[in-house]
Amino acid sequence: MNLITQTALRQPRTIERLVQGVMTSDGAGVKLTRVLHGALQRRLDPFLMLDAFDSDDPDDYIAGFPDHPHRGFETVTYMLAGRMRHRDSAGHEGLLESGGVQWMTAARGVIHSEIPQQINGVMEGFQLWLNLPAQRKMNAPWYRDFSAGEIPQYATSAGATVRVIAGSSNGVEGAVTRALTEPLYLDIHLPADVTFSTALPDNHNAFVYVYRGTAVIDGTQITSRHMGILANTPGSDGVTVSAGNDGETRLILVAGKPLNEPIVQHGPFVMNTQNEIHQAIVDYQSGVFG
Ligand code: CO
Repeated sequence: MNLITQTALRQPRTIERLVQGVMTSDGAGVKLTRVLHGALQRRLDPFLMLDAFDSDDPDDYIAGFPDHPHRGFETVTYMLAGRMRHRDSAGHEGLLESGGVQWMTAARGVIHSEIPQQINGVMEGFQLWLNLPAQRKMNAPWYRDFSAGEIPQYATSAGATVRVIAGSSNGVEGAVTRALTEPLYLDIHLPADVTFSTALPDNHNAFVYVYRGTAVIDGTQITSRHMGILANTPGSDGVTVSAGNDGETRLILVAGKPLNEPIVQHGPFVMNTQNEIHQAIVDYQSGVFG
């Protein structure tokens, strides 16, 4: 693993607000926490949704997500613990296991299923929805699975370990890059009292979600299962996050370049106009998705 010595940031970002997720269920009754939802889509453009799932009760996850469509965006599923099988109408199939990432660009449309391959134990992870620019929404679908070992990672001399799912951080290129939305997606593990920094353009929308322990950003504590939206202060050059002093802290950091295009969502379809949503429904009902 690369060992990186970090230089301090000149003007790290501050926390604009904290958000607590909302308990909900989706698919065939999977219990999850919706952290990023409709009301935050404009603020966190190009990100449309973040769901966190974390349960050791099979009743919460066993039914999975049977066949359902998507059009107009990308889904990124990061499995911390568990096994889930994916199949889609474009002919892709894969087994997502602990530490792995599944990146699916639905674009003009796929029908897929996501079904747990375990009858007990912990199922924990995230599904993030990343919008596509208008010019790419009707492209061909794309799909890739990354096993845990295929996700680049590095450690800092201060003791942080970082997995780079997308974008690049401290000179380490992630598994996926996207030209127009420039997503950064990091999983950051910090022993107690360790501090970590990474650069961020000041105009990119960014948030952290803490899933273990307590993180501190610019003096603001973010406790487990909370999102912190980072302020887009002009001239800021990145984010600095520290672990609390009561044990290990784990969080994801997600950032991207806003598209500044209209967002019209109808369930699993996210387009730019009502007409395009109507067309998506017609296409789905007439079997165009395959
Ligand atoms: Co889906």
